[in-house]
Amino acid sequence: METFELTDGVVLLRAPGPADVDRIDALCQDPAIQEWTTVPSPYTREDAASFVSGFVGDGWARGSSLNWAVRDAADDVLVGMVGLGMEGAGSAEIGYWLAPEARGRGLMSRSVDLVLDAAFGRLELVRVFWRAFVGNAPSRAVAERAGFRVEGELRLGGVQRGVRRDEWVGSLLATDPRPRRVDARPAAGASGNGG
Ligand SMILES: CC(C)(COP(=O)(O)OP(=O)(O)OC[C@H]1O[C@@H](n2cnc3c(N)ncnc32)[C@H](O)[C@@H]1OP(=O)(O)O)[C@@H](O)C(=O)NCCC(=O)NCCS
Repeated sequence: METFELTDGVVLLRAPGPADVDRIDALCQDPAIQEWTTVPSPYTREDAASFVSGFVGDGWARGSSLNWAVRDAADDVLVGMVGLGMEGAGSAEIGYWLAPEARGRGLMSRSVDLVLDAAFGRLELVRVFWRAFVGNAPSRAVAERAGFRVEGELRLGGVQRGVRRDEWVGSLLATDPRPRRVDARPAAGASGNGG
């Protein structure tokens, strides 16, 4: 599959390339990313290089996983990653992380909205699946804000670097209602229409 970009004017999603390896290496040193995702730990520059040239490149080429670097649309700086792992028959699993300094601003919610638009639009998926290790409240908040229904907890259902952990699972179907888009939110301090 050809890579494609997604943007809402605030975030720009574009597949990571060789020029992004050092930045990905630096950001994946974050303890929270290592605690809550399945990236290698310790994380090396080689891990970032093989992620970009292997996993990302092959994933797009085969259409088996579609990964985008989340960039600040204003300056093109890479601030995170979001991806869809294709599961076949119209389903994909979503995954994401953000740089610590980029959190708390709704950038991942915007990115997830864009990826879901593509998932249910041009990719014609019928379901997107989400999972997180139990206790990852920020990830769950992103998912629930996007409209995912958390469907339960799988005891020792997840595997992180060879060790089983409890995980939350949820899904969003193409036919489910999508909550009000973040774009539609008034800026902080702006006077609304009573809402
Ligand atoms: C999961 C993760 C990406 C969530 O990041 P985040 O910044 O909380 O997510 P968002 O970008 O959607 O921002 C939401 C925050 O911005 C605030 N916000 C501000 N403006 C907003 C807007 N327009 N829309 C939505 N949220 C907005 C929200 O209130 C929320 O802050 P709060 O948690 O203090 O209430 C991040 O915590 C992370 O990278 N964690 C480590 C890796 C990880 O766990 N990945 C997921 C594995 S399953």
